[in-house]
This record gives sequence, C-alpha cells and structure tokens, in this order.
Amino acid sequence: MDVKPFNLSSIMSIHPVTQAAMRSFDKASDPRLTEVMSLLVKHLHAFVTESQLTKEEWMQGLEFLTQSAAITDADRNEFSLLSDVLGISSIVDVVSQPVGGTSSSVLGPFHSQDSRWMDNGANLAGDQDGVRAWLHGRVLDVQGQPIAHAELDFWQNADNGLYPAQDPGQDPYNLRCKIKCEADGSFNLLTIRPNPYTVPTDGPVGALLVTSQRSVWRPAHYHVIVSAPGYVGLVTELFPQDSEYIDNDTVFGVREGLIVPFTPCQNTDVAERYGLTQPFLEVNFDFHLVKAP
Ligand SMILES: [Fe+2]
Repeated sequence: MDVKPFNLSSIMSIHPVTQAAMRSFDKASDPRLTEVMSLLVKHLHAFVTESQLTKEEWMQGLEFLTQSAAITDADRNEFSLLSDVLGISSIVDVVSQPVGGTSSSVLGPFHSQDSRWMDNGANLAGDQDGVRAWLHGRVLDVQGQPIAHAELDFWQNADNGLYPAQDPGQDPYNLRCKIKCEADGSFNLLTIRPNPYTVPTDGPVGALLVTSQRSVWRPAHYHVIVSAPGYVGLVTELFPQDSEYIDNDTVFGVREGLIVPFTPCQNTDVAERYGLTQPFLEVNFDFHLVKAP
C-alpha cells in the first residue's frame, strides 16, 4: 500500500500538544503505523476539543473500556461488539472492499474456525425446528464466469435465535459447515430460515445501547465467507428481504445487494432429495469475487 509522506504543514494550526503527540510516532519502523497512529491522535484530539470533553466524562470513558476488557474472553469480545455498534466494523468493510464484487458485511462474533467440511448439497437442518430453506447459487468472477471449486464457510442461528456458542442445548457444530463448490461454481445446501436476534446486552456496550434508547436487534441473516485461490476473500451476509429490523440493524451490516427474497419453493426434486413434506423456501444467490491484485 502506498503511504503518503507525512505533511507537517497540514497540522500547523493544531494545538502544540496534538502536534507533538502526532509527531511522536514519526520514528515507527513501519511508515503505515506512523500514518495510522498520527491520524488517530489527530482525530481523537479533535473529538475532545470539539465536544469540550470534561475530565469526568473522559474518566467515564476509561471506566467503560475497563469494564469492556473485564468481560472480554476467548468466547466473547466486547470491543468487537463496540466496533460493530459504532458502525466502525461496517465502515472498515466499505473502505476496504474491492470494486465490482459482491458487497461484504460484518463477520460478527459467532464465527468458528473449526466448522466441518460437508458435501455440496448437505442437509444442515436435520430434525430441528425451523422453516426449511434451500440455499443455492454459484460463485462467479466479476465477468460472470464460474470459479471452480470455490469454498464456502457458512453459519447461522437456530430457530430460537441463538448460535451454538450461546446455547448449550445445541450441538456445537449446528447449522454451520464448509462446502467446496462444483467445477461450475455451483453450490447448494438445505438449512432453515434464520431469525433476528439481539446483540449481547449484559455488558457495558449493551448498557450503552439501552441508555441511548437504541435498538439492540439485528435482522435475520446467513453468514458466508467465500474464498478461492487467486481471488479476494469475501466475508458477507444474506438478509431475508421480509425480515424484521432490515431497516434498523444495530451493527449497520445491511447492504442493498445482500437483501434477498426467500420464496416458496415448488421443486419436487429438492423436496424428494431431502424428504421434505412441509412447504419450504428457496434462496438463490450468486457470489461474485474480485481477482486478487
Ligand atoms: Fe449473526
């Protein structure tokens, strides 16, 4: 990545303390670290100045971060949640996304690295509750050509709105898998319709949302990571267009191109393959990946 040379003249009108704090990173071994930390200091100081922050308010802020650290462990990261509800995770997605492919969205806190590999066409639904949904599509490049044997990492919540990490009643591997697509880029699996859920509200971030009278809900969504050699990996989500909270996602993850119809499916071959006797839904979505530079 090109790093612009540091331009001292642009900060000459800033308070000497701010200038000194910015320049204190000049000798960092990585020029990108110098750039990022200088800008972070510049904007944090601007925030303090513009809001006329009091000492008491700053101490409250530090106490908030201390409480966030105290509740963070291997299974729960309050700072990740804070990043999400401030919209920072989403805006990082937006500025770092390559042009032309499927929109990215937030990773969220419930991704596990150790999902099991399953055959294309896997049945994740089993005998659990929930409306069955047949998810299928292709992985393509930005010209619409198939990407052979791309890989999907898929996860979602159960019909009770919970992920396995939140629910001891679920198998830890429930409703998540990795799938290798076919040579023509196609994939499909049987799962259930996802459900809206609330972000954790028992920590300082949840308390901030409640105090601020903000919604704590996310609309229903599937999580998918799509990857293929030679292409930029895609972390994204698919949202049912009729989901509650689709216009008020508390982590700002919804993108227009990721809102998809969940339509009643009449495909008898699919019904027969999975032994479906109740009405089920179909979700058809093609992912487009951008070639790696
Ligand atoms: Fe999620």
